[in-house]
Amino acid sequence: MSTTDTETKPAYSPGLAGVVAGETEICWVDPNAGLMYRGYDIHEMAEKANFEEVAYLLLNGELPTIEQGAHFSQALAAERSLPKEVLEMMRLLPQNTHPMDMLRTGVSMLAPFDPDLNDNSHGANIRKAIRLIAKVTTLIADGYRIRRRENPLPERPDLTMAGNLFYKLSGEVPAAWKIRMMDTIFILYADHEFNASTFAARVTASTLADMYAAVTSACGTLKGPLHGGANEESMKMLDEIKTPERAEGWMMDALAKKAKIMGFGHRVYKAGDSRVPIMREIGRDLGKRSGKEQWIPICENLEATMEREKKLCANVDLYAAPVFTMLEFAPELNTPIFAASRVAGWCAHVVEQQDNNRLIRPRSLYTGPAARPYKAAASSNGA
Ligand code: ACO
Repeated sequence: MSTTDTETKPAYSPGLAGVVAGETEICWVDPNAGLMYRGYDIHEMAEKANFEEVAYLLLNGELPTIEQGAHFSQALAAERSLPKEVLEMMRLLPQNTHPMDMLRTGVSMLAPFDPDLNDNSHGANIRKAIRLIAKVTTLIADGYRIRRRENPLPERPDLTMAGNLFYKLSGEVPAAWKIRMMDTIFILYADHEFNASTFAARVTASTLADMYAAVTSACGTLKGPLHGGANEESMKMLDEIKTPERAEGWMMDALAKKAKIMGFGHRVYKAGDSRVPIMREIGRDLGKRSGKEQWIPICENLEATMEREKKLCANVDLYAAPVFTMLEFAPELNTPIFAASRVAGWCAHVVEQQDNNRLIRPRSLYTGPAARPYKAAASSNGA
């Protein structure tokens, strides 16, 4: 009898495609181009809400009252600064450290500074979530300045998270429309049910490890180009294409070479990514304001060619890439900006996981050799 004969073959779906790995009340991704946060349509939220409200909703299940919202925003603003040891650590990293690696290392190092670290109760988890949501933006902005051998700037508690991010990177408070635009982008990226990084966070949380461990796992997972890293890679592609007229030919060449095109395809969406129309509109608006009107038509020509050739839809990262460029963020900040928003979703999922926990531990399908007897080592040259 072989080792595999002792049990029936388990069902297997490569990449866990189509597998329901848990329940959640936080977010629903509708394969037919829809997205809801706790029952609220993302399109309505992007138009009417601000990011702080959305973060509160994801964590607490309901939209805040005016007082709850003000209190939550103040709590976030009060938690932004980093321990000086974390700033010192970032100064020790090699200058070419990628901002996502800085962020992951920074989140990990923040853990022992949190007085609630090993308390996974609901209340302690919400307190940790507020600290993490507040500090991730600071890790990104301070890390970026340190990497450029510039000093981090002091926090501006009078600014929202979006406004503070611009200020901390550039030293300038941008126009109100720019802050509003960033808020909308943050809302679009805030959660997406069991995407790879959130799932990684939930797996870590399910061992009853702490929220910082879970968010560290999530940061590591987001970095990959098949997930959050796609918005940095998409910009390299658009830079190479340069003009709308070259987009179709570029895509045909890339498809002929069987290349994976960044910013296209999605595991769940088959009738379009719900976030794309809003991100595309932001891109058009920014194109007019900045005079860089080539980027969105390049994306649209790529989309049309991909639809015709492979029936694959664009995902949000295709349009996020030029949007971030037109907002004057360096391309290596594209994925960290995604993280600045998604940390709200990660934390909400950790809270939900630990409030009703069961260890996440799937099976694998063994495909190795059948049982065989141990053989004592012999010399490989036969001597
Ligand atoms: N470029 C070219 N072909 C693609 C692409 C792509 N971007 N995406 C999927 N395909 C092809 C596959 O090669 C496959 O073709 P085949 O049937 O001839 O082998 C077919 O479409 C089905 O694709 P799957 O591999 O089953 O898609 P899967 O669900 O495993 O992967 C993923 C989804 C990882 C997003 C994939 O589409 C991809 O790699 N996209 C590029 C990276 C990217 O943009 N990631 C961002 C995702 S959204 C986000 O994280 C915010």
